[in-house]
Amino acid sequence: MKDTVDILVERLGGLAPRLAIVLGSGLGKLADGLAKPVRVPYADLPGFPQSGVTGHAGELVAGYFDGIPVVMLAGRAHYYEHGNAAAMRPALEVLAGIGVVALILTNAAGSLRTDMPPGSVMLIEDHINYSGANPLIGEQREARFVGMSEAYDRELRQTLEQAAGKAGETLHKGVYMWFSGPSFETPAEIRMARILGADAVGMSTVPEVILARFLGLRVAACSVVTNLAAGMATGELSHEETKDMAPVGGAKLARVLTQFVRDSAAEI
Ligand code: HPA
Repeated sequence: MKDTVDILVERLGGLAPRLAIVLGSGLGKLADGLAKPVRVPYADLPGFPQSGVTGHAGELVAGYFDGIPVVMLAGRAHYYEHGNAAAMRPALEVLAGIGVVALILTNAAGSLRTDMPPGSVMLIEDHINYSGANPLIGEQREARFVGMSEAYDRELRQTLEQAAGKAGETLHKGVYMWFSGPSFETPAEIRMARILGADAVGMSTVPEVILARFLGLRVAACSVVTNLAAGMATGELSHEETKDMAPVGGAKLARVLTQFVRDSAAEI
């Protein structure tokens, strides 16, 4: 990864972000708010994923939010693309290598709660790894036994909640359950997920949270609700719907994150 760190440091030309934000499906527009943007296609960064999912650009964008340096990953690799839960490991290692200490993950998700309809934003408080996969399988070092009791950083969560309040946006809170995808869940699986304590379901984020904790990064995550989960509304679920609906909650999340960057600059 050293080579990629060197490449990126050179491309960033003195920009040294301590905060990174991973943009989920349909949320790529968040990067448009960055001033003096430096755009680096993943293709120029050895080890970065070459994602094939539509709605995921595959580009690193660094710049300034209110004078605060931030790096964003527009596009991520998903476990369902190749069966590799550690596909984002090189990218996260490179972020850590350039000095990033805090990571905000975003995703599109299905909601299990009618009081959290499409267009809502949910702060992930905890997760359930229902995929059976783990990005640290095969890792030899003792550090693989990562504690996950407080995986989602308490202070970052508090700052996000305060930022939402200041921005006048409702930020729901809940548990995210990782299904491998790429097929959507069945109604029976959603009933099970509810019994197990899930508030939202999705196909990403959990492996990155595990990797981030392994790498010592502080992490927080937010879901943009694109649909009610399987069986809760009429009609079939589709990736089209995810892409169409993500910008609705995405605009709210953008306002929350803009405020968050301002508020967290001293903390991070
Ligand atoms: N299930 C899984 N992943 C998703 C969903 C869903 O309903 N919506 C957006 N991503």
